[in-house]
Amino acid sequence: MQVEKTFYIETFGCQMNAHDSEKVVGTLIQQGYRQVETVEEAGYVFYNTCSIRDKAEQKVFNRLQHFKKDAGRGKVFAVIGCVAQQEGEKIFDRAPHVSLVAGSASYAKLPQMLIQLEAGAKRVTGLKFDSDEAFDTPFTRRDNPHRAYITIIEGCDKSCAYCVVPFTRGPERSRTSASVIDEARRLADSGTTEIQLLGQNVNSYRDPSATGWDFATLLDQVGGIPGIRRVRFTTSHPRDFVKPIIDAIDSNPNLCNHVHLPVQSGSTRVLDAMQRLYTRDQYMERIAWMKNARRQIAITSDIIVGFPGETERDFEETLDLLDEVQYDSIFSFKYSQRPNTAALQLHDHIPEEEKSRRLTIVQERQRAIQLRQSSALVGEVEEVNVESFNSAIGQWMGRTSRNRTLNFTHSSDEQLTGKYVRILVTRAGPASLVGQSL
Ligand code: 5AD
Ligand code: SF4
Repeated sequence: MQVEKTFYIETFGCQMNAHDSEKVVGTLIQQGYRQVETVEEAGYVFYNTCSIRDKAEQKVFNRLQHFKKDAGRGKVFAVIGCVAQQEGEKIFDRAPHVSLVAGSASYAKLPQMLIQLEAGAKRVTGLKFDSDEAFDTPFTRRDNPHRAYITIIEGCDKSCAYCVVPFTRGPERSRTSASVIDEARRLADSGTTEIQLLGQNVNSYRDPSATGWDFATLLDQVGGIPGIRRVRFTTSHPRDFVKPIIDAIDSNPNLCNHVHLPVQSGSTRVLDAMQRLYTRDQYMERIAWMKNARRQIAITSDIIVGFPGETERDFEETLDLLDEVQYDSIFSFKYSQRPNTAALQLHDHIPEEEKSRRLTIVQERQRAIQLRQSSALVGEVEEVNVESFNSAIGQWMGRTSRNRTLNFTHSSDEQLTGKYVRILVTRAGPASLVGQSL
């Protein structure tokens, strides 16, 4: 029986995954498939998965479980992304109704894999890292006409002891600067004003063509494209984060004054066990570059609590680092054991309740810091790029260059999405600001 060429896709995980899905959707549409809003309507069901922590990984198996029997009959299930790459063919054993298992390094082969599926193949795989190129497609389907992701580098050559990404996304592959600039220009021509450059470690970007640009140069060049008003980037690894990036931000106002620089721990001993390749002091040196910059740069971070062997003292060093840096915001996580990673060999595991306790303390400490920082913005004028309107509360939502969420009221019923508006900040909470347009 021919399966209808309609597809549903659900995406888990990071911005890289969100953007991969935009490319996958574009490829599917190009191949004659039509996107639908529910699994029920779909012939093909795609899950673009994340395996960064165990909880994220379990989500896809919960979904699959639900469709194991009648609900999934007549549909083709595809597991793509990081869980696919990590678990490979084992997924077919665990969920026999899955017909395609493919990691992100195989998306260029999606059209061929689709042909196999259409012919009724039951166990199609794309699990090899046999390309030294990043997946590049002209068919990317972007949801937002004003803000766009551009991948500049895929994969990761680091080996942080807790991290699954080098196994799920493979070795680093940088795109040529010409293709990045070309994509950014085309986006600008069609009305995009904000661009976010993506990679697991954007700082190790190296143009593979003769031009040989490094990341700071690429960043500056994208920020100079006519029509582009904001450029963001994520994620930065402190080891490869160099001063010219700050100099570029200082000299080019189109580059957003926000840097996400995950520290993971405030203890050099733990950083060493994590194989992060920097000490607390070296990290703080990079923070000092930002604090000494001419523009006020927002700094955000990721923290892991309860890494094997983390003592109370190590943990306190993390709390102390939060006080010292005064981050604009952080993402914090309990350490989660991941397949293949070096940390599996470590003993001295921290009990789950203790991890939870430390996580709560980190989050409370950071909440107080953020509240203090946000309060200082009351009375200031901030420019936002408007993203949406929340009719329930009658407020627009936009983001400042420093990546703060600002909810605001506007006197007329003019359509503001995608516009840049100046807002007077009138109230502050730890996570967002409230204001009114000027
Ligand atoms: N356990 C907990 N958190 C993790 N992260 C990555 N791997 C793990 C893990 N095994 C966190 C790191 C990283 C963010 C994306 O996820 O803080 O920066
Ligand atoms: Fe999750 Fe990491 Fe894969 Fe992103 S790259 S989807 S965070 S495992």
